[in-house]
Amino acid sequence: MLLNYIKFISTAIRVYSSGEAANLKGDYDSVSSTYDQFYSKNLSSCAMSLMEKLPIESGSVIADVACGTGFFTHKVAKKVGPSGKVMATDISDGMLHMNELNAKAAGLTNIDFKVSSYDTFLKSIANETFDGLVCGWGFCYFNQSLFLKEAYRTLKPNGFLGLIENKDDSLKEIFDIFQKVLLRNPTVLKKNVKVNLPKSSGKIAKQFKNAGFQVTNDWEGDMKLKITNPDDVISYIRNSGIASGFLDAIDPTKMDKLFAEFHKLVKEKIAKEGSFSVIHRYASVLAKK
Ligand SMILES: C[S@@+](CC[C@H](N)C(=O)[O-])C[C@H]1O[C@@H](n2cnc3c(N)ncnc32)[C@H](O)[C@@H]1O
Repeated sequence: MLLNYIKFISTAIRVYSSGEAANLKGDYDSVSSTYDQFYSKNLSSCAMSLMEKLPIESGSVIADVACGTGFFTHKVAKKVGPSGKVMATDISDGMLHMNELNAKAAGLTNIDFKVSSYDTFLKSIANETFDGLVCGWGFCYFNQSLFLKEAYRTLKPNGFLGLIENKDDSLKEIFDIFQKVLLRNPTVLKKNVKVNLPKSSGKIAKQFKNAGFQVTNDWEGDMKLKITNPDDVISYIRNSGIASGFLDAIDPTKMDKLFAEFHKLVKEKIAKEGSFSVIHRYASVLAKK
């Protein structure tokens, strides 16, 4: 019975609680200055497993959709060179602003920046424009069939689509504690949270095939952080962007209480087990049109 209730809460908080949609964009704006230090740095080796496989040629035109602060944008911009171009788009002007600052610092001048939702951006693009399209950690926020349809339409024949995303069991250790806190405070979620994480790389590959793509590679992996101080776990949640959408969904008058309860449970786990594991489990797919 309790297990069912936990499962119910889990499903409910992953998809909807009650009321209006949470402001995902606002939460990403708020973490834009800390995102690289927490997320990009730790997830770098996972993201590089995709970056290294992208078949990018000098002079290509590549889209980076949900580009954030530019982990992929800048590496792709260097690969396409001055005769090529990256079209970088994100719904968060805070994240995109950091991307522009980082690009300027790296002397990159072949990037077009556009604040936009993925769907509005792709719908504004003519058929067969891109040589390639990359999407790092943004797919879970999209209408995935619409994204794949638009990606297919806007890619040139043989153009590539590369994608990496957290799997639905990613950060399970954090989520388990979050569930416990929510069971004690069942009315704190005031807005809908919509995050659709894939089960496996095989499942994404199937979605790609259904949209007409030929899948070249699909693979999975993980990145484990062992944290011994509960303050650092809270800091990771608040600064890395992993709680984007959830933070805005939580009743602001209850936020401190929730984090205090979360902190206490993490502290107990560390006392018992010596450390707390934060494990990102990811799935990645590379395909061509
Ligand atoms: C986890 S970050 C990934 C950023 C970057 N791609 C990277 O590899 O570091 C997810 C990004 O998706 C963006 N995002 C979320 N929903 C979006 C949407 N509907 N359209 C465009 N970008 C979106 C967020 O603003 C955020 O920058």
